[in-house]
Amino acid sequence: MKEVMIEARKLRKSFPVQHKFWSKADKFVQAVDDITFSINKGKILGLVGESGSGKTTCGKLLVRLLEATSGNIFIDGQDIAHLKKRELKRFRKTVQMIFQDPYESLNPRMTVMDTIIEPLVIQQIGDSISRKEKVSQVLEVVELTPPQEFMFRFPHELSGGQRQRVSIARALVIEPKFIVADEPVSMLDASIRVGVMNLLLKLRDKFDLTYLFITHDLAVARYMCDELAVLYSGKLMEKGPTEMVIKNPQHPYTKSLLSAVPIPDPMSKRKRLEIKGGITTPINPGPECRFATRCPQVEDICKRQMPELKNLGEEHFVACYRR
Ligand SMILES: Nc1ncnc2c1ncn2[C@@H]1O[C@H](COP(=O)(O)OP(=O)(O)O)[C@@H](O)[C@H]1O
Ligand SMILES: [Mg+2]
Repeated sequence: MKEVMIEARKLRKSFPVQHKFWSKADKFVQAVDDITFSINKGKILGLVGESGSGKTTCGKLLVRLLEATSGNIFIDGQDIAHLKKRELKRFRKTVQMIFQDPYESLNPRMTVMDTIIEPLVIQQIGDSISRKEKVSQVLEVVELTPPQEFMFRFPHELSGGQRQRVSIARALVIEPKFIVADEPVSMLDASIRVGVMNLLLKLRDKFDLTYLFITHDLAVARYMCDELAVLYSGKLMEKGPTEMVIKNPQHPYTKSLLSAVPIPDPMSKRKRLEIKGGITTPINPGPECRFATRCPQVEDICKRQMPELKNLGEEHFVACYRR
């Protein structure tokens, strides 16, 4: 049976644009704009799109590192979008976020032990003996063995891949149910990338985790994800099972993304679709489709109203009038 782990409903986040301090903000970036999706338990949803499309903002909303401007986020039936204080602290035990650059997200003055123990201390889980035991276990889990060899090292005494494994251990130590991984392998050398990807997949199976996996790299997304959600300028353009979206993309933007990068599938020959210009920042956006100005198949109606996300069947959704 499919059980929903997390459901985002009409999620929005806007940021005021830098303005002179004496005037009120009248311009807003709609970083995440009316997004609805869900992830089933034990599944990995890939959030893909160019830089600036709102991926990180979306991830931070789901683990409440940011509070949504409006909308709902249901985790196990509880709406966590606007929790405060005590409830928020309790909620933080159930979710974690892993960041792109383990060098930036790890404190350079803290040992591996202190780094991994910190969330347990903050959440007041266990005593000092059981916490140390837990650190040892979780280092084994992320394959930094023997644990004693890594516990007392500082970030600069570790390789890039080892640092990311420490970040993963720190996320795992409180036994979360849901993890947002924001470009977790994009800073790593290709040679160690697969090892970290395989570790994340293994952890998903072992602990029955659910991930939102953010990446701009479609080859990585294909390797890791059960489903893909394509974001463009704060809007969800397409969502569906990974192979369906990659082999049979329906949105002109998804097609352009796929034609711009080689996806390691020797069977696929694609016509390169040229998309002019870069991503536009959605500052006080109008009602038109966000992709209209770059779309090779634009029609009049696209300039009047953003299309709704439409179900094409088999869990494949697209927001385009041409489908
Ligand atoms: N704290 C912030 N303040 C103002 N604007 C922000 C903030 N965070 C993100 N943005 C803007 O929101 C948009 C989406 O950013 P982001 O979520 O980081 O995209 P991505 O992760 O896909 O690159 C961008 O236009 C970015 O400039
Ligand atoms: Mg980002």
